[in-house]
Amino acid sequence: TEDQLAARVRELIHDVPDYPEPGVVFKDITPLLADGPVFRAVVDRMAAAAPGPVDLVVGMEARGFILGAPVAAALGAGFIPARKAGKLPRETVTGAYDLEYGSAVLEVHADTIGHGARVLVVDDVLATGGTAAATVELIGRTGGEVVGLSFLMELTFLHGREKLAGQRLDVVVGF
Ligand code: PRP
Repeated sequence: TEDQLAARVRELIHDVPDYPEPGVVFKDITPLLADGPVFRAVVDRMAAAAPGPVDLVVGMEARGFILGAPVAAALGAGFIPARKAGKLPRETVTGAYDLEYGSAVLEVHADTIGHGARVLVVDDVLATGGTAAATVELIGRTGGEVVGLSFLMELTFLHGREKLAGQRLDVVVGF
């Protein structure tokens, strides 16, 4: 049975049919973000999902920034933005992932994740898992160690966790 916070989170994630294209139901988290007590409780829950000490939180652009930065602050960890291509000014490490049509790239500054750093990955949604898998892979290439991934929600029918075999996953709510 689902706990009280998860039930409240479910109420505050609004379904938007046919966005961004016909047949897709978009999960809008902005009502949740606008609810102060629930936002705080979600951040605390996602931070508590960290399996042991964490040096760094990596959040994926853009909604992973909104949740990842406060989770990092709650843990006393640093925050690393994984940005879409071309946004970071210095040398980067890059991870490509597939989209429905074509592919996309996330990157972090090459010198920001030290060798052996314990990293928690935070994002709003685990969908196909492409974004998260690319992020795990690129963190590995910087020398960091992914100790877990924490998501606000999982779209279970897309089976994204199959791309994250062997990783510790935590989700607040599943759809
Ligand atoms: C969304 C979401 C995740 C990703 C999940 O980001 O915030 O990062 O998709 O999808 P996947 O598991 O199928 O890879 P999006 O690329 O829409 O960017 P945004 O946060 O800037 O809207």
